Amino acid sequence: MSKIEISAQSGKDFTGDALIVPVFSGRERHRLPLAISKVARLAMDEGDFKAEYLEMVPLHHPNGVKGCRWILLAGLGDEEKVTLNKIRKAVGAAVRFCMKKGWKSIGLLSPATSNMEPSQVQTAALEGTLLADYDFSAFRSKPEATRLERIELFTNNDDNRKLRRRQAITEIGVAANHLVRDLVNTPAADMYPESFAAKAKALAAENKIAVEVLVPEELEKDGFRALLAVGRGSAHPPRVVKLDYTPSEKAKKHIVLVGKGVCFDSGGLSLKNATDMETMKDDMAGAAVALAATIACAKAGVPVKVTAICGLVENMPGCSAYKPGDILRSRSGKTIEVLNTDAEGRLVLADLLHWASEMGADHIIDLATLTGACLVALGDGVSGVFGTDQKLVERILDAGAIVGEHIWNLPLVEEYRELLKSSVADIKNITGSRGGGAITAALFLKEFVGASSWAHVDLSSVWTTTEKDYRTAGGTGEGPRWLLELIAGQ
Ligand code: BES
Ligand code: ZN
Ligand code: ZN
Repeated sequence: MSKIEISAQSGKDFTGDALIVPVFSGRERHRLPLAISKVARLAMDEGDFKAEYLEMVPLHHPNGVKGCRWILLAGLGDEEKVTLNKIRKAVGAAVRFCMKKGWKSIGLLSPATSNMEPSQVQTAALEGTLLADYDFSAFRSKPEATRLERIELFTNNDDNRKLRRRQAITEIGVAANHLVRDLVNTPAADMYPESFAAKAKALAAENKIAVEVLVPEELEKDGFRALLAVGRGSAHPPRVVKLDYTPSEKAKKHIVLVGKGVCFDSGGLSLKNATDMETMKDDMAGAAVALAATIACAKAGVPVKVTAICGLVENMPGCSAYKPGDILRSRSGKTIEVLNTDAEGRLVLADLLHWASEMGADHIIDLATLTGACLVALGDGVSGVFGTDQKLVERILDAGAIVGEHIWNLPLVEEYRELLKSSVADIKNITGSRGGGAITAALFLKEFVGASSWAHVDLSSVWTTTEKDYRTAGGTGEGPRWLLELIAGQ
């Protein structure tokens, strides 16, 4: 059952722990319900609250507002400069503040602006609230932040039909985001190829998605030699999960999502240093995003066939591990000289992309925490996208902008292809230099997609070390929301 109540009231009679009051700087406060406006004006007139974007001031038992213990003024900044994403983030930050205080019963006033369509503004506020309402407490004795029990959204408007229609899809997107955070945050001791596959199977069954799990013998028979090589140094054997969501009506299109699912990336024999290894349980984020997005599409009933293939391996330096100097014959027949076992994601994806290219789909999108270089280039708030089909790339950029997840187009510089030339095989898995690492990795993948309409997303924004607005530290869960937006719009 949803914990959200949508109310046509103004919010002045809210009873509960805290009422979040989003406020624009300047004159807007006068549009608040009178009792609340008085309280806000006091704080603003005395200069303690300027309503700058992300500024927050809690007021305890304010005079004239009886039902709730706290009012939390949340700044939105200049009304002329407001965006849906600023609303998501400012409200998200306010919700995180409440959660850390242990306030569980929350009221939220719709930001009042005539600059945007009200149901869009309200949906953004709701989305920010729900995205923030996350806590990975499975391994803590005491949660760091308490989950909300009840959220009442006050629209001050009798007609909330548009908002209610958007609510369902918003909740589906947020659930997918939280699923990715859970999968990514779970330690590699608990989240390894078999356990990821079991989880995917259970979720597929719940959502009436066809699922198939390929084990090493089957992968061997079908030629996934590059993927199998990466997994050889681990006690946990690889799995490949294939999910198929088929809509009830005739599908308009077929999209294949390909996910890098390296459940732990130690680097293999080309071992990472201790610091670089710290976060490498997140190297299965691509597979998590592909899985969660497919579930979201099924829940939303989008009229598009979606196939997800997740390549699940653990990259470890065990005694059977693949070695620098090895030459792998990939599923496509192309041979790959391995010079660094830490450039393993592209080997897993080489076999998966070749398989995907045989499916006759309209588009292939791969999702992978592929390079540290992309993270260096764009930081942990922006993912990179490359592609052979610029229209598809543009649609991905648009989808990201709509849902407020940053994606930036990087170029497939053809001249760099020669850096991947091997003296003994068709291609090598690293170049001799560090420059353009995200680009050369993408060029490597391109060798395996044939003539498909293909995009590759280097997921630098799936992990963050610091909490900010609705993002919690650790897995950010970014990916499924823009994929749902993209696929639903096909
Ligand atoms: N999983 C890493 C990429 C990565 C590193 C993503 C840090 C996010 C944060 C990938 O398998 C890897 O190790 N790539 C190497 C490639 C290099 C050896 C050519 C890298 O980026 O250093
Ligand atoms: Zn690696
Ligand atoms: Zn990796």
